[in-house]
Amino acid sequence: MSAAGKVVCVTGASGYIASWIVKLLLDRGYTVKATVRSLSDPNKTNHLLSLHGATERLQLFEANLMEEGSFDSVVDGCEGVFHTASPCVLEVNNPQEELIKPAVKGTQNVLCSCAKVPSIKRVVVTSSMASVVFNNRPRNPDVVVDETWYSDPVYCEESKLFYHLSKTLAEDAAWKLSRENGIDLVTINPGFVIGPLLQPTLNLTSEALLNLIKNGTGLFSDGVYRYVDVRDVALAHIQAFEVSSASGRYCLVGTVSTTTETLNILHKLYPALNLPGRGENENPVRPPYQEALPQVLKNACLTLRMLKSSQEQHMLGFGDPGGRFGGFGSMDGRNVLQGRR
Ligand SMILES: NC(=O)c1ccc[n+]([C@@H]2O[C@H](COP(=O)([O-])OP(=O)(O)OC[C@H]3O[C@@H](n4cnc5c(N)ncnc54)[C@H](OP(=O)(O)O)[C@@H]3O)[C@@H](O)[C@H]2O)c1
Repeated sequence: MSAAGKVVCVTGASGYIASWIVKLLLDRGYTVKATVRSLSDPNKTNHLLSLHGATERLQLFEANLMEEGSFDSVVDGCEGVFHTASPCVLEVNNPQEELIKPAVKGTQNVLCSCAKVPSIKRVVVTSSMASVVFNNRPRNPDVVVDETWYSDPVYCEESKLFYHLSKTLAEDAAWKLSRENGIDLVTINPGFVIGPLLQPTLNLTSEALLNLIKNGTGLFSDGVYRYVDVRDVALAHIQAFEVSSASGRYCLVGTVSTTTETLNILHKLYPALNLPGRGENENPVRPPYQEALPQVLKNACLTLRMLKSSQEQHMLGFGDPGGRFGGFGSMDGRNVLQGRR
C-alpha cells in the first residue's frame, strides 16, 4: 500500500506506543492528524514535532476522551484511525472516574466520531492482553491462551484489576459500536510493552522495568510478564491498517518471562551491573498454560523480537548513555530503555 497522500489519525499521540506509531506512519509517508490532551505542554508535543517528516505531514489537535464530539473534526477526512489514548495506570483512587469512564467513554466517543466519516476504511484500537487473559477458565499445560480468549469483567472487578477491567470493557464497547455502525475494526492486544522511548517521560511499563532493574520490585503479584517490543507493537498497528485481510484481534506477546527469569537474563547480559537480588521475593513458577507465541499478523510478515534471542539487547533497549531519568550506577532509565532507533 502506498501511503503518500493518505491521511490517518492517531489518538493519544504523545504516549509511549502512539509516539512510535506516529513516527512509523510519518516514515512511510502518511499525513498524520494526531491528538494530544494539551498543545501547550512541550513534554507532550516536542518529541512529535521533531520527528522526520513532521514539519510537512504532522498536524496536532487537542482532544479529550471525556468530551463528546471532541474527535469529530480530527477524524474527518481520514482513511484510518489508530485509537490508542486510554489511561495506562494501575494505581488509582477512583477506578470509575480515573480508568473505566475515560477508557470506555473515550472509545465510544472516538468510534462514534468515526461512524460519521465515510472515508474511514478501518479503525485500529489499542487493546491489551489485559482484556484477553484474566478470567476463570481452567488452565493446564495443554491450554493455549490466544485471541479467542476474553477477560471476564466480573473476575477483573472481584480481583480489583481495574486497569484490566477498563481495557476489557473498552474493547467490548469498540466491538459493539463496530457491529452497530459497520465500522471495520481491528484490535491490537499487546502484552507488557518495553523498548526505546521517544517521549521525554517514563510511561507505566518503562518505569516498571526500571524499578525492576533498580530494586527488584516487580509490578505484578504473579511475577509473570508478557513482553513485547514497542517497535513491533507500532508496526503491528500499521500493518493492521494496511493489510486488507487483517481482521479481529491480534495478541502481541514476544516472550513470557517471570521476574526471576528477566533478572537472570539481565544479569547474564550485563554481569557488571549491580542488579538487585534476583527474584528473591518471587515464586518463579511459570504459568501452567501456554500462550500463543509469537502471534504474527497474517500475511504481514511481522516477526516479534524475542527476549531471549539475539535481539534481546534491542528488546530491552540497552543503548547510548543518556542520564535523563537519574538511574543507577553508570546506567540510567534512558540507557536501560533506549535501543537502536
Ligand atoms: N504500555 C503497555 O505495556 C501497554 C500494553 C497493552 C496495551 N497498552 C495500551 O496502549 C495504549 C497506550 O499506552 P502507553 O503505554 O503508550 O501509555 P501512555 O504513554 O501513558 O499513553 C496513554 C495516552 O493516553 C492519553 N490519555 C489518557 N487519558 C486521556 C484523556 N482523558 N483524554 C485524552 N487522552 C488521554 C494520554 O495523554 P496524556 O499524555 O495527556 O496523559 C497518553 O497520550 C493504552 O490504550 C494502553 O492501555 C499499553
